[in-house]
Order: sequence, then structure tokens, then C-alpha cells
Amino acid sequence: MIDIIIANTANHYSKIAKLADVIWREHYIPIVGKPQIDYMLDKYQSATAIREQVVNGFEYFLITFNTTPVGYISIKKEAESLFLSKIYVSSVYRGKKIGKAAMAFIEEKAKDYELKRIRLTVNINNTNSIKAYEKLGFVNTGPLVTDIGNGFVMDDYQMVKTV
Ligand SMILES: CC(C)(COP(=O)(O)OP(=O)(O)OC[C@H]1O[C@@H](n2cnc3c(N)ncnc32)[C@H](O)[C@@H]1OP(=O)(O)O)[C@@H](O)C(=O)NCCC(=O)NCCS
Repeated sequence: MIDIIIANTANHYSKIAKLADVIWREHYIPIVGKPQIDYMLDKYQSATAIREQVVNGFEYFLITFNTTPVGYISIKKEAESLFLSKIYVSSVYRGKKIGKAAMAFIEEKAKDYELKRIRLTVNINNTNSIKAYEKLGFVNTGPLVTDIGNGFVMDDYQMVKTV
């Protein structure tokens, strides 16, 4: 059974940081290389960084499958859109409709906030996830390059779904 629970304790942040460490290394090192992932994990996905983001308006949710942590979501309410900052499912649990359940949950959040759009950014070479987002109803609105410091950039597409 899939559960999506609000992450608001040090224990939750630590579980998410552990998931991020495994998922990001496996998934992104082939795409952007180890130095950038070491930098991004430390800057964005340590338990401390997650807690700071929560203080600054990001909401994190832990996804469990039969009580095992298998993924996580991060969202932020913006003026015009719900920003889907992160959605990750552990590799062995992918393709089992967990991402789809997570997206239904996010759509409900958008409706709760009376927002008509969900937007996300995805690396231009993250081909499988782009395909999954298209299946989930997102449309590519074009490139978005973000300087994240230390000589690194995030080379993304923005994708948008109307809800
Ligand atoms: C993207 C991700 C969250 C999707 O979660 P998931 O649990 O694997 O997705 P689901 O099983 O719920 O599939 C959702 C839909 O996408 C489709 N899909 C999933 N992976 C796909 C792939 N590699 N290629 C084509 N379609 C795919 C499914 O067929 C399904 O569509 P359908 O209901 O019409 O059949 C997950 O694959 C993931 O964590 N990927 C790696 C990390 C990542 O890149 N995250 C996004 C960062 S921006």
C-alpha cells in the first residue's frame, strides 16, 4: 500500500536525505557527473538543507510502500503555480504507478491552494522522466538554465500541467 506522509521531523528529513543520496547518485551521475552531484546533494538534500527549505516554505512528503520509504516529493506554493521541486521514486519501485499516485496527490494540493498550474523543471537529458511527465499530462514549455554556483548550471526544461 502506498502512503504519502508529511515530512516534518528530523527523522523524516534524515530518511529523505538517505533516499536522495542513493537515487541521485545512481540517476544523475551518468547525466551531469559526480562533482556536480556531490555539490548538489550537500547544498540541497542533506537533512539540514531540507529542514531549511521547509522553514522557507517548501513542503516535503515521504512516500512509503508497505511502510518502507521508497520516495519523496517536494512542492512550493507560488503566486501562479504549484512548483513541483522534487519527485523521486527508488529505482526498484519505478513503473509501479507510485509516481502516478504521487502526482494525483500533488494535483489535490494544487486544487487546495486554488492554483491552476503545476510546473516543474527537469534536466534536458533526463529522457525517461521527461517521457513519464508527458504521460502524466505535462507539456514542455522550453529550456531553463539556472546557475547554482561553484561553476555548475542546471540545464533544464520547464514542464507545465494545467489542473
Ligand atoms: C519520474 C518518476 C518519479 C516516475 O515515477 P514512477 O513510479 O516510475 O511512475 P509510474 O509508474 O507512476 O508511471 C507514471 C506514468 O509514466 C509512464 N512512465 C514511467 N516511466 C516511464 C519511462 N521510462 N518511459 C515512458 N513512460 C514512463 C508510465 O507508463 C505511466 O503512464 P501510464 O499511466 O499512462 O501508463 C520515477 O521514474 C523517478 O523517480 N525517476 C528517476 C528520478 C527522476 O528523474 N525524477 C524526476 C526528477 S525531475
